[in-house]
Order: sequence, then structure tokens, then C-alpha cells
Amino acid sequence: MRFQTYRHLARVATVGVVVLSVSALVACGGPKKEEGQAPGESTAPPEQQAAPAPVPEAAPAPAAPAETGPITLGDAARGKAIYDTYCVTCHGPTGKGDGPAAATLPKKPANHSDGNFMNPLPNEELYKAIKEGGQAIGKSNAMPPWGATLSDEQIKDALGYVRSLATPPYTGPK
Ligand code: HEC
Repeated sequence: MRFQTYRHLARVATVGVVVLSVSALVACGGPKKEEGQAPGESTAPPEQQAAPAPVPEAAPAPAAPAETGPITLGDAARGKAIYDTYCVTCHGPTGKGDGPAAATLPKKPANHSDGNFMNPLPNEELYKAIKEGGQAIGKSNAMPPWGATLSDEQIKDALGYVRSLATPPYTGPK
């Protein structure tokens, strides 16, 4: 019957594809291995692998270029304007953690004017906290991420201002 013939053909075709794929895999193995190849990595491109061929996943979009190297402090005067706009509600006008919203927070913000607490914290860590939120450095997510609101330069400016609030003064890397 025609139906059975098609089924038979389909089966033959499937077997054929598998056999071809296997022989392709075998042909790719052995002495022709590319140099510098990571162990365990398949030599066969996705289309030669045994059926059903998995749809190759699209390469993930490249992440935003990571900040490399040490973070330098931005302009504290520009940073004050940013702080007064976005940060005082929680951190308070002088960074004491006494802004109007602070009382409602599950975790009270750190006192940015306390140099003994703030000065030992590296710029990289504070920059990351401002850009990606408190959770990014293992602190409370009550500290929101600002990376979508502020540019990297603005974050450095804000950090410059945060550093300027400290008593005793911050004397670490600028
Ligand atoms: C919604 C309230 C809120 C706002 C707005 C906010 N913060 Fe925070 N921030 C916090 C809290 C709460 C913490 C403390 C998290 C902890 O200690 O677990 C914190 C922590 C920090 C820290 C880390 C210091 C430390 O070790 O505790 C820095 C730096 C900081 N904030 C800077 C900023 C800057 C700059 C802005 C404005 C761009 C800002 N914050 C806006 C709530 C806020």
C-alpha cells in the first residue's frame, strides 16, 4: 500500500541519516582532531550530529562591557546633585541614613558620614552596590540598583560625593 511504502521510505531515510551522521562523526574523530580543542568538545558541527539534531541555541548577547580595573572617583560636586535627587530619601542629606524613607526600610542604610565604617570599603564594592543594588555585594536589596538610571560616570560622581561625606576623611584611592 502507498501509505506503508511511505512509512517504509521514511524509516529507511531516517536510518540513512543516522548512519551518515555516525560515519561523519567517526570521520571527524581520530588523527584529524583540531589542535587546541578543549577535551570532550564535539568535532562535528551541529548539522552533522545524529538525528534529531538539536536546534543550536543562539549565542547569548554579549553582556555590557564589564568595568575593568580599579574604579576612580568622579566629581563630588556633580555627585551631590545626583545624591540630592536620588539618594537623600533614604540616605539623608548628609548620608547619615536618616532620610524620610529610611524608617520604612527593612534595613537601615549605612551611615555614609562614618569614615570608620565607610573608608575601608573599596571603591569597587561601593560602585557595584550603587550600580547593581545592595544584593550584588551581599547586602540588602532595600538598596536599589541605579545602573539603569545613572551612567557609569554619574555613579562615579555619586561615589565621589559619598566619599566626601566621611569623617575621618577618606584618603584611599581617588
Ligand atoms: C530606597 C532607599 C535607598 C535609596 C533611594 C538609595 N539607597 Fe543606598 N542603600 C540603601 C540601603 C538600605 C543600604 C544598606 C544595605 C545594607 O546595608 O544591607 C544602602 C547602601 C548603600 C551603599 C553601600 C554602603 C553600605 O555598605 O551600606 C552605597 C554606597 C549606597 N547605598 C549609595 C547610594 C546612592 C549613591 C544612592 C543614590 C544614587 C542610593 N544609595 C540610593 C537604601 C537606599
